[in-house]
Amino acid sequence: EYVILDQQLIPKSEASINFDDRGYYFGDGIYEVVKIYNGQPFAMEMHLDRFRSSSEKLDIAFPMSNEQLSELLMSLLQKNSIDNGLIYFQITRGVEPRNHLYTRQSAPVLTAFTQATKDVATPQEKGLTVWLTDDIRWLRCDIKTINLLGNVLVKREAADHHCHEAILNRDGIMTEGSSSNLFLVKDNVLYTHPATNLILNGITRQLVIKLAKENNYSVVEEPFPVEVLEHADEAFITSSSVEIAPITAVKGQLTTVFDIGPVTLHLQKKFAEILP
Ligand code: PDD
Repeated sequence: EYVILDQQLIPKSEASINFDDRGYYFGDGIYEVVKIYNGQPFAMEMHLDRFRSSSEKLDIAFPMSNEQLSELLMSLLQKNSIDNGLIYFQITRGVEPRNHLYTRQSAPVLTAFTQATKDVATPQEKGLTVWLTDDIRWLRCDIKTINLLGNVLVKREAADHHCHEAILNRDGIMTEGSSSNLFLVKDNVLYTHPATNLILNGITRQLVIKLAKENNYSVVEEPFPVEVLEHADEAFITSSSVEIAPITAVKGQLTTVFDIGPVTLHLQKKFAEILP
């Protein structure tokens, strides 16, 4: 199995990270996860654009062009013969003696790996249960940073309550999942949090909104309170890894159940049609 380290393809067993990498000390870096279908990365351009936008928001100067990065990532896919799975890539701000104050002198360190899809039951078909809890993250959730403590703590909390995903509210307003975006359906209208600093504007989210509009559903991108969950007809989460996954039950701060409904199924069908 090969990985990318600093623009080189090397066997994973030979890869080692510098002790003074700021990613290790501060979680000072950004990442993307791109799904691979039949050897083809899905929506790579959108992911590369968001990668660049995250790096700019964090004042990390990343010298590679989208084309160069995309070519390098493709060479890793081919080297590892990945047909279906994902590619993960990240940059950290680079290597410097530990100091909160960064100098702008360090060179970003790029790493990437691939993962083949395992043969497990897919949440797309069976749906999943979610744990409703507080959004304990910082106020720049629009940046896809590797600093994910708030996300990993609520994911563990969800799993400890036998739920697949945590869905989060900030002061009573629903934001998103720990690693996904959240949609509700009521009377054939879709509701989701607007793309502000309080959520990650998911690539899958953006594609689902586009598909929904093309298929004559209204989409309301406005903040909605927790209680609305109880009145929704359907609910689902979206992400590169789970695509569109129906929510069948909510537990935690509020308890409710959903059927896997016609709008979710319709959007899943339309989504499958745009995959490579
Ligand atoms: N997570 N919101 C958060 C907080 C996320 O971490 C993710 C993705 C999403 C969905 O984004 P997209 O549709 O672009 O994948 C929303 C990835 C898959 C991860 O961390 O593994």
